[in-house]
This record gives sequence, structure tokens and C-alpha cells, in this order.
Amino acid sequence: MEITKDLLKTAPIGVFDSGVGGLTVFREIMRQIPNERIIYFGDTARVPYGSKSRETVTRYSEQIVRFLRTFHVKTIVVACNTASACALEALEASTDIPIIDVVKPGAKAASDVTRNGRIGVIATEATIGSQIYTEYIKELKLNVTVYGKACPLFVPLVEEGLLEDPVTDEIARRYLAELIDIDIDTLILGCTHYPLIRSTLGRIMGEGVTLVNPAYETALELKSMLQSLDLLNDEPPELGSNQYRFYVSDKAEKFVRFANSIIKYGILSAKAVNIEEY
Ligand code: DGL
Repeated sequence: MEITKDLLKTAPIGVFDSGVGGLTVFREIMRQIPNERIIYFGDTARVPYGSKSRETVTRYSEQIVRFLRTFHVKTIVVACNTASACALEALEASTDIPIIDVVKPGAKAASDVTRNGRIGVIATEATIGSQIYTEYIKELKLNVTVYGKACPLFVPLVEEGLLEDPVTDEIARRYLAELIDIDIDTLILGCTHYPLIRSTLGRIMGEGVTLVNPAYETALELKSMLQSLDLLNDEPPELGSNQYRFYVSDKAEKFVRFANSIIKYGILSAKAVNIEEY
């Protein structure tokens, strides 16, 4: 069958993350380009990626991309900072459709926003260890200092639903103290879960610090990329056509519960697949 432009425009976008965190990216995409169909995959059986090696995260990401491609997606969004940091190069080398990651758009926004040239990045251990944000920011702007801080406890706190809680507050104060001391004016929320505790982080950092949400920046980047390739879907999908489909590698019901708590769309189901088969 010939693949026409119209067929490509209506093809879904593949979005993946190590679990539920990428739903913060999904949420921004559905807000900013509401005509698009999305296939979301959350690797709930193998989360967290943030404490794993680059090789392992790359192998997982490659399997997920093979799975998403069975839906003939027109593009793939790596909606996970850790997978973006560890696997993007390998994915780009082996894939012939456009791939968007979350790190580059976040780095770009931060380098545009900073006034005093002191940028903080909070993320998982793997993302901070990769130095990827520093690398991208320094390519975009000279005379900038980037301070990375791994905040491994934030992911479980968010997954426990402790979004506004004294425990989260206390831990955030401890993690952020050194970034406050060095007078950053911009803070990148370099992990998919962190936008969900944005108000806590903003309150602790104070008004003088701009928070950059890579999830939002990624959706903007995706929209502009699809526009430039003339691949934006012009029409909303027909009612009942399953515009958004969710797949996970384990515990589909738990995923649906979490998804419904952060997205007011009413996600009815998610399907578990054996991702090791891909
Ligand atoms: N999605 C991951 C990220 O953005 C956080 C969760 C994990 O460690 O897998 O880095």
C-alpha cells in the first residue's frame, strides 16, 4: 500500500517512558496538539531507569521503539529524561522516523531564560551522571555554569501520591539547599515526575528562580517539528476511535489509577504487553 501524506498525518505519535512519569509529557502533547492520536508505553515492570546503567536503559528503549513501530507511528517522543540521556543516540542511529527527546527542549528553554548564567538541574542519578544537560546548554550558550543535583527520592514520593506533603517538603528542602546557596536563577525539572511537585519546588526556590518544565517545552518542539514536516493532523480523530491508547509492561490497573489522578481525561484502560518479546 502506498503511504500518502494524508495517511502519515493521521498516523499516531509514539510516546514512551519508564512508567507513569511520561504522562506529564503526554498531558502537554494532548493540550498543545489535540488532534493527534497517541500510543503511550510505560515500562512499569522495569521502572526505575534512573538507577540503571546506560546499556540497560538503551536496551529497554530499543525494545520499546520496536514495539511502538508496530503501530506505524509517525514519530517517537522519548518522554523520559533518563532514556533521553542514555539512549537517544542509539535510537536515532537505528530509526528512520523523527525522534524527539525531552532533554534538548529543556536545555534550550533554560539557556534562553537564565539571566545570571547559573542554571540548576534536578534529575535522576543516571541523568545527572551523564552530564547531558550541561553538554547541551554549553553548546547553546557560553559562560553558563550548570549545577546538577540528583534527587532520587522524588520519584517514589510522587508515585506514593505525596505531592503536597510535609515529607516531600522536607526532602525537597534538603536537596535544594545547595542550589539555593549558589544563587541559581533557573531550575530545570529534569525528570518526568518533578512537574507534579512543581508548586513545592517553586515555593522552596523562591520567586527569583524560573522553573523550566521540559515536558511543556517538548510538546512545543514536537508541534513545531510536525508543522515543519507538514505532518500535523488537521482533523480531530472520529469519536470512539481510541485517540489515546496506553500500554504498560506490568500492573495495568495501577497505571490507570495514577493516570486518572493526574490527567482529567478519564483514561479507561491500559493493556499489559510482554515487552521482552520485542
Ligand atoms: N522517567 C524517569 C526520568 O524522567 C524517572 C523515573 C525513573 O527513574 O525511571 O528520568
